[in-house]
Amino acid sequence: MKKRVNIGVLVSGSGSNLQAIIDNAEKGLLDADIRVVISNNPDAYALERAKKHNIPAVVIEHSDFSEREVFDRKMIEVLRSHSVELVVMAGFMRVLSSMFLKTFPMKVINIHPAILPSFPGLHGQERAFEYGVKFSGCSVHFADEGVDTGPIIIQAVVPVYDSDTDETLSARILKEEHRIYSQAIQFYAEGKLEVVGRKVRIKNYKQIDESCLHNPPLTKF
Ligand code: GAR
Repeated sequence: MKKRVNIGVLVSGSGSNLQAIIDNAEKGLLDADIRVVISNNPDAYALERAKKHNIPAVVIEHSDFSEREVFDRKMIEVLRSHSVELVVMAGFMRVLSSMFLKTFPMKVINIHPAILPSFPGLHGQERAFEYGVKFSGCSVHFADEGVDTGPIIIQAVVPVYDSDTDETLSARILKEEHRIYSQAIQFYAEGKLEVVGRKVRIKNYKQIDESCLHNPPLTKF
C-alpha cells in the first residue's frame, strides 16, 4: 500500500503555496494529508484557505512569547497533537530554533523564491531582479539552523526579461513554486529523498538532459 505522509504547514501570509498543496492533495496527485496549518500572523489569508477546506487552522502569535523556544515548543505541541511527520514552511517568516529542528530532524522543508545559495533571506525575487540576473527561480530545501541554507531538494529556473518588473518576475517564480513544492513533498512521501552531507539524492529519478539554456539566446555560437 502507498504510504501517505501527514504534513503540517507553517504560514505567515497569503498562502498561495498552501493552496497549491491543498489542490494537488485534493486532486489525488499528492500522497499527503494536511493535518494542520499554523500561522504566526492572525491576519494571514492562508488561515481562510485552510478553513475553506476544513483543515484545522491554528494561530500562534510569536509576539505572545518572550522566547523563541517557547514559541517553537507551542508549535511542536500542536504539530504532535495532529500527528504531523513532515513540517512544510510555506511563506513562514520566522527562523526555527535548533530545538525545533532537532525535534523534526530532516523533516522540515522550506521554499525560497531564488536559486539558492543566491539571494537568501527576505525579498529574494526583488534582490535578484535588482542585481540584474538573467535567470532566477525557486528552491525547496531541508531547513537547518541557517537562513535558507539547508540541503536543496529541487530547484526551478525561470528567465528574466528586459521587460520585467519585480512583480512580473515574482509572479513567474511563484507559478513554479506551486509546482516544485508539491513535487518535493511527493518525493518525500515516496521515500525517495536521501540526505548525504549537504546533498539530497533522489532515488530513481529521471535525469534531465544536458542541453543548456542561454538568456539572451546565442545568435551564432
Ligand atoms: C513565497 O514566494 C515564498 O517563497 C516566500 O514567501 C512567499 C509566500 O507566498 N518565502 C520566503 O521568502 C522565505 N524566505 P505564499 O504565502 O503565497 O505561499
